[in-house]
Amino acid sequence: MTSALFSPLTLRDMTFPNRVWVSPMCQYSAVDGIPEPWHLVHLGALATGRPGLLITEATAVTPEGRISPLDLGLWSDSHAEALIPIVSFAHGQDVPIAIQLAHAGRKASTSQPSAGGGSLSVEEGGWITLAPSAEAFGEFAEPVAMTLADCERTRDAFVAAAIRADAIGVDVVEIHAAHGYLLHEFLSPLSNLRDDQYGGDLASRMRYPLEIVAAVREAWPSSKPLFVRISATDWAPGGWDIESSVIFARESRIRGVDLIDVSSGGLAAHQQVAVSPGYQVPFAAQIRTQADMPTAAVGLITEAKQAEQIVESGSADAVLLGRAVLREPRWPLHAAAELDADHAWPHQLARARVR
Ligand SMILES: Cc1cc2nc3c(=O)[nH]c(=O)nc-3n(C[C@H](O)[C@H](O)[C@H](O)COP(=O)(O)O)c2cc1C
Repeated sequence: MTSALFSPLTLRDMTFPNRVWVSPMCQYSAVDGIPEPWHLVHLGALATGRPGLLITEATAVTPEGRISPLDLGLWSDSHAEALIPIVSFAHGQDVPIAIQLAHAGRKASTSQPSAGGGSLSVEEGGWITLAPSAEAFGEFAEPVAMTLADCERTRDAFVAAAIRADAIGVDVVEIHAAHGYLLHEFLSPLSNLRDDQYGGDLASRMRYPLEIVAAVREAWPSSKPLFVRISATDWAPGGWDIESSVIFARESRIRGVDLIDVSSGGLAAHQQVAVSPGYQVPFAAQIRTQADMPTAAVGLITEAKQAEQIVESGSADAVLLGRAVLREPRWPLHAAAELDADHAWPHQLARARVR
């Protein structure tokens, strides 16, 4: 049987061997932004499942852009160097690797979820957070509104991180503009109350994220794909919505973005999300059609046939798996067997292959 899920996808000069991709997932295990052995073992195990792409967890472009003190970072060359074994291991498995470049904005400086996930004060090892406006997220600490100099410095940090990622052989950059973090905070009218060029109508709210996209695209090799993860809706009245997402995707395409990774939510503490299997897939389908933009679908995709159907029906160009691959890092190998698709196994595992 020919499987759409296990067919290759080419974007720019990069051919992804299949369309089962690993979604970015914070591990809250780094020290000063530097990966620990956990990261190599965790991402390495995922690579042995031979996904078509492995995306690292949200990797902060500045120290204050970390969600927690335990996040990965890429604000110095030492951070980049420490990622080399992970990149090499993925490449040794013929798995392309993406880095998700992130700034957590007003949702930075929190403890890891297992410790409650709330704001950390400076005394507790946290820091003052930055955001478009001095508007807190739920019970979190109130952020400081970014000056234009802060905006410039942060944009330059995204660019510098992308240059470092290229230097160590990373294949794809994904800019994190979802889940209520900094760039999503600029997009949404619920968190962006600025009255300068970066706030107000839709075009003004999109301006800063699009400037970052354009600046990263200029620095990132034209042979390599650039992705953006967005939240297609805030799931809250008066918030960011799918119509704005389609417009943002079109503007991103003009600036050289190759794929939109379509998630949702995370911006408004009062969001009402209707969660069910594949619940975000219709957003990926709408953006793909209306913005003429390749998309990846994510969210409660857990079954091989479900994933196959999403790609085969043209709802998305690829699927991203999160919790399913945390449970079973070799999910793609099992899915290929179930779909009777050709899929290379690591030779070390070959004797375990079910035929
Ligand atoms: C432990 C964990 C960490 C996550 N960290 C990130 C992250 O760093 N960046 C991001 O964009 N999404 C993050 N997510 C969201 C996932 O990438 C994914 O979008 C979400 O889990 C829904 O997919 P799933 O139903 O397949 O798990 C995280 C999810 C989990 C479970």
